[in-house]
Amino acid sequence: MILQGEVHGKTIPFKGEFMNIINIIEKKRDGKELSTEEINHFIEGLCNGSIFEYQASALLMAIFIRGLNSRETADLTVAMTKSGDCIDLSAIPGVKVDKHSTGGVGDKTTLVIGPIVAACGVPVAKMSGRGLGHTGGTIDKLESMEGFRTSLTREEFIDNVKEIGIAISGQTGDLAPADKILYALRDVTATVNSIPLIASSVMSKKLASGADRIMLDVKTGSGAFMKTLEDSIELAREMVSIGELTGKKTVAVVTDMDTPLGNCIGNALEVKEAIEVLKGKGPEDLRTVCFELASRMLELGGKGDIGTCRELVRNSIIDGSALKKFGELAARQGSVYEPWDEKAMRKAAVIDYVTAPFEGYISSMRSELVGKASMLLGAGRETKDGSLDHSAGIILHKKTGDYIKKGMIIAELHTSSRQLLSEAGKMLKEAYETSTAAPAARPLILAYADSDRVIRY
Ligand code: URA
Repeated sequence: MILQGEVHGKTIPFKGEFMNIINIIEKKRDGKELSTEEINHFIEGLCNGSIFEYQASALLMAIFIRGLNSRETADLTVAMTKSGDCIDLSAIPGVKVDKHSTGGVGDKTTLVIGPIVAACGVPVAKMSGRGLGHTGGTIDKLESMEGFRTSLTREEFIDNVKEIGIAISGQTGDLAPADKILYALRDVTATVNSIPLIASSVMSKKLASGADRIMLDVKTGSGAFMKTLEDSIELAREMVSIGELTGKKTVAVVTDMDTPLGNCIGNALEVKEAIEVLKGKGPEDLRTVCFELASRMLELGGKGDIGTCRELVRNSIIDGSALKKFGELAARQGSVYEPWDEKAMRKAAVIDYVTAPFEGYISSMRSELVGKASMLLGAGRETKDGSLDHSAGIILHKKTGDYIKKGMIIAELHTSSRQLLSEAGKMLKEAYETSTAAPAARPLILAYADSDRVIRY
């Protein structure tokens, strides 16, 4: 039976009374399993406008509370992937390995890992996003280099990878448009922090990006979406399982985001810090996380066992080939200056210092607040289409584990406007928590998951 309905002023045929969004919401509300057809019907209706946003929101809340099993999560991911374009990377020879981070504060790993992996002979065809909330985005960071173009045509993107082994671009085409609609609804219906919804959101975009294999960096801690290690491991396992069920080998590394990564937060400041790491310097935590993730990407790309890959990574830093690759990437995508040239970096008009209001060990940091303070200085957008100040951000002089004395400089604030200093400084001070005893050291690499195992470090 074909039913007709009046939707958004249009007459829409419903495919049958049992494939009805109200039945689907009811089923999930009561904790029942949805069929593949029901999930496809939901995503199709969401994209063609025959399902209303309030109905989609009700289903999201039912999923948030009742969950999805692995089969339902994989079906949702595939339906979201098929809602838009899928990139064909088959013209690029070799095994293409994609990397995705679930987002954090000071996370500039792509800027370091991309050139290392490309210098070691695994092609990097990376599509990245802009900042989201308190977390930064690779595209914003790259645009802090004068002239750097992040909107490549599909042809330029593929040609650059073929010729120099690496391209980093904003999305070309319309990848997983269903995710864009769902993400916006989740953001305003308190349904972001759901493991099956995050897993399907991340993996739908990764599957549409066309790589052969996927390496995921699942952030855990106060600056991440997943605050506990157990939840982060569950998210990692779910995404690895989607990869396996859809035929793309996927591994995940769970890394710390309790403390901001590295010392710099903000676009130009983060590019500068990434270059320091490529030069063989830079903060130890950033080096450790980047080198491990790059090694796992090389392993996935077939460059040998993990020991061999760690050695390849070390050598690419020592012999300067990773730094050289970053220079090639910047030149190819239009950067006016070499990325390590002081002139390439936008500098803030105003720099101010934050001093410690107390004495003691920094026992922990509320990383989300550090990200928000950086946003307030201009490094992030208030709204999706807002503008940002590439020179703005924070340099942390002291982080978790350091001993500080009252009056000591703990951070630098970079901005274009003096008026922003006072509130950002206050917020940053609130991010520091102290105690009289030194905190226990926390590992940076907390777990690894592939289809066969989960290793906790
Ligand atoms: N990143 C995504 O792409 N989606 C989410 O749901 C969360 C983080």
